[in-house]
Amino acid sequence: MTGLIIIATGGILHAHFAQQVLKTDMTDADQIVGTRKFLMQAVKVSMIDLSKKQKAGHIKDISANGTSIAAIATVMPPLFKDRHPKSYPFKGSKSYFKGAASADFESASEKLRAAGMATMQAAEKADPTELDSGIGALKSSCGSCHATFRGKY
Ligand code: HEC
Repeated sequence: MTGLIIIATGGILHAHFAQQVLKTDMTDADQIVGTRKFLMQAVKVSMIDLSKKQKAGHIKDISANGTSIAAIATVMPPLFKDRHPKSYPFKGSKSYFKGAASADFESASEKLRAAGMATMQAAEKADPTELDSGIGALKSSCGSCHATFRGKY
C-alpha cells in the first residue's frame, strides 16, 4: 500500500508519510510535531501541483492551491508555540523547528496566508501578472520563514 501511495504521488512523499492518523490527544508533543510536519508536506505538494498547472496554462485551477495554502497558514501558529526538542529527530524528516517568539511566527504565517489569498484571487481573475506576484510572495514566505525558524540535520 505504501508503495502504491509513493508511485501515485510521483515519489515525492517519503515512506513515513501518512501511515496512520494521529490520536486525538494533543497534549503529546510528538502529535504536535507530526501535525506541523504533515501540514508542511501538504503545502509542499500543493506548490508542486501549482507549478504544474501554471506550466500547463491551467491558471484558474490554481485557485484551489491558493485557498488550501491560505487555510493551512491560518492554523499554523498554535502548532509552533513550543520547540518540543525531545520529539526530534522525527522519523523520516531531516528538519526541526528552532523555536520562535509567538509574534514573529504569527507574522511569518500571516505572510503565507496573505500570499495564498492573493494567489487564489489572481487565479480566479486569470490575471497572469497578479498571479506571478502572488506565487512570488508564496515562495519568498517559505524561504524567509525557513531561513529563520527551520533547522536541518
Ligand atoms: C511561518 C513559517 C513557515 C512558512 C511560511 C513555511 N514554512 Fe515550511 N516549515 C517551517 C518550519 C518551522 C519547519 C520545520 C518544522 C519541523 O521540523 O518540525 C518547516 C518545514 C517544512 C518542510 C519539511 C517538513 C518535514 O516533513 O519535516 C517542508 C517540505 C516545508 N516546510 C515546505 C514549505 C513550503 C513549500 C512553504 C511555502 C509555500 C513553507 N514551508 C512555508 C515553517 C514555515
